[in-house]
Amino acid sequence: MSSETTFKIEDKYMAPFFVKQQISIEKGDGVFVWDEEGNRYIDFTSGWGVTCIGHAQPVITEALLNQSRKIIQNPNSGLTYSPARAGLLALMKEVLPPHLTHVFFSNSGAEANDAAIKLARKVTNRLDVISTHQSFHGRTISTASATGQASHREKFNPLMPNYRFVTYGDLDDLAQALDEDVAAFIIEPIQGEGGVHLPSEKYLKEVERLCSKNGTLLITDEVQTGFCRTGPMFVTGSMGVKVDFLTMAKGIAGGFPFGGFAMSKKVASRLEIGDHGGTYCGNPLGCAVAHAVIKYLVDHNVSANVETMGGICLATMGQWKERYPHAIKDIRGKGLLLLIEFADPDMAARVSDGCLDRKLFVRQTQGNGIRVFPALNIKENELKEGLGIMQAAIEQVAG
Ligand SMILES: Cc1ncc(COP(=O)(O)O)c(C=O)c1O
Repeated sequence: MSSETTFKIEDKYMAPFFVKQQISIEKGDGVFVWDEEGNRYIDFTSGWGVTCIGHAQPVITEALLNQSRKIIQNPNSGLTYSPARAGLLALMKEVLPPHLTHVFFSNSGAEANDAAIKLARKVTNRLDVISTHQSFHGRTISTASATGQASHREKFNPLMPNYRFVTYGDLDDLAQALDEDVAAFIIEPIQGEGGVHLPSEKYLKEVERLCSKNGTLLITDEVQTGFCRTGPMFVTGSMGVKVDFLTMAKGIAGGFPFGGFAMSKKVASRLEIGDHGGTYCGNPLGCAVAHAVIKYLVDHNVSANVETMGGICLATMGQWKERYPHAIKDIRGKGLLLLIEFADPDMAARVSDGCLDRKLFVRQTQGNGIRVFPALNIKENELKEGLGIMQAAIEQVAG
């Protein structure tokens, strides 16, 4: 097939939810991808924070092949045992914060959040859910209801009832909102889609204290931040914050659709048979891939690479900010979850287009931001090649 044919078929038959970039990607290798005409691009989006150990990663291919030759889906799914699932659960126990003792696997981040909210209502026997303005928690009706960005919510009214919002990072706002009706507070430890916002050092610890005092369960949505995206395996774990639920997806299986939620023993002890389930329940294929990805992250000390590469990015972006103060308002982020905030959305769009013209994928975020979140095992020369392209695009627009 040629790109032209692919464009025509997708434009005709794919649901019309996206303004498409006129590029048809055929294959990848590490941080690089190629279109159908053989042009090479660098991917600084890692498929929206998913391909954390690169495209066409051999350990993933091997896990897919080996497991699919054995079994993909168990008879009676979650009702039977699976060595692939047990292997992943044992590995998760090593990387999760120790107090999170029980895990259930889903197929996506939204599903994991949906389940955590549902189960928090059951455990507390309360109805209300608090979330934060500018948050993003998914596109199911309950997770859209928990998403603090009007554009993802309001056209679907009526939404789920009993959802309220507080300002991200504002402890007084949360303290005032917490009352005896609040089952759960759901929060991203660093807001991703909302524009890469980091709360103060003490914020999450205080959130834990306030929720616990109020009998409200704390759900941290680590769908975007989990699995070394910001350096440590999980942000909440690295901060010593004891949450009731931790939800995950994206990087967990490096591009294979998978997710999950972990919960404390106390929460798990209050759940019963039939409270949750699903057709896949962590099917052996997904579990084998997730195991291969997490093992790679641990064995290759990817966390250290994230710290080093993230440092290089921030230092380079800091120089751009000094050089183009009229164009760049802020740079922020942690590890390899970074954002450059431009003076206005038009400028961000022109820089993003300029990057694509020069064969680099970045992600325009919240209008005036450009998010950079490449594969976590990116090498220094690859990173510098991509940053060089960004610099040229910025120079053209702002120089
Ligand atoms: C923080 C966060 N939560 C939930 C989701 C939804 O995950 P999924 O698209 O896998 O349903 C996303 C997706 O971007 C996310 O960034």
